[in-house]
Amino acid sequence: MTITLITGANKGIGFETAKQLLVLGHVVYIGARDARRGEEAAAALGARFVQLDVTDDASVSSALGTIGSAEGRLDVLVHNAGVLGDDGMDGPTALRVFDTNAVGIVRVTEAALPLLRESANPTVVTVSSSAGSFWAVTNPDRPEFHLPLALYSASKAAATMLTVQYAKSQPGIKFNALEPGTTATDMTAAFGIGRSPEESARAVVRLATLDADGPTGTFQDENGELPW
Ligand SMILES: NC(=O)c1ccc[n+]([C@@H]2O[C@H](COP(=O)([O-])OP(=O)(O)OC[C@H]3O[C@@H](n4cnc5c(N)ncnc54)[C@H](OP(=O)(O)O)[C@@H]3O)[C@@H](O)[C@H]2O)c1
Repeated sequence: MTITLITGANKGIGFETAKQLLVLGHVVYIGARDARRGEEAAAALGARFVQLDVTDDASVSSALGTIGSAEGRLDVLVHNAGVLGDDGMDGPTALRVFDTNAVGIVRVTEAALPLLRESANPTVVTVSSSAGSFWAVTNPDRPEFHLPLALYSASKAAATMLTVQYAKSQPGIKFNALEPGTTATDMTAAFGIGRSPEESARAVVRLATLDADGPTGTFQDENGELPW
């Protein structure tokens, strides 16, 4: 049995990732900040539900405590929860975006580390973004160059950096960051762009199911490693 936790899994890419990992036989915990949305998603998939708001220390601690009591370990952690934060360019908006997209990774990782250390093949996937790649946002030929999403990009750069730093400080655990591909979800609905969440979830599943000798400290999309 592979025990898996996905944050922000009540919809979008996280929900589809849960669905695909369940097919592969994982025991999947849907982390969701809203209990009703999370319970409905878990019931629809045959997954388990934990209330988990990545911006709330008590919620994160309680969620990992629940998994620890039930399973005694965590094999796969997917940091998927995220917000676009395109509704302002001010301190409160910046705090909310960084709290969710970057600080949330620290909260959940720190709470999960003792359980990940109990796994024979612990793997952490950060659903980051190429909007947080310095290579992409400084290259006029890339779509990320033209995105007016400064807070999102900066918070995803931090998410990728945290993933790389955890890979170095936790050599027994694989930490990889992913650009999942532009996807039609509630996050991108206003732009009317993107492929299906099913397709992007396949890229998450690939990194979530690496062998024990798989890579760590990388930033990838479905085709392999991306420049930083
Ligand atoms: N869509 C794309 O093109 C694209 C491209 C690159 C990267 N990504 C990344 O992919 C990930 C998933 O995004 P998506 O496109 O699937 O968007 P989505 O459908 O809007 O899903 C985002 C998920 O994050 C959850 N979330 C937000 N704040 C949270 C918090 N404080 N605690 C726990 N959960 C929280 C949302 O829960 P609620 O339902 O409660 O709001 C929702 O379940 C994000 O990290 C995003 O940045 C997406």
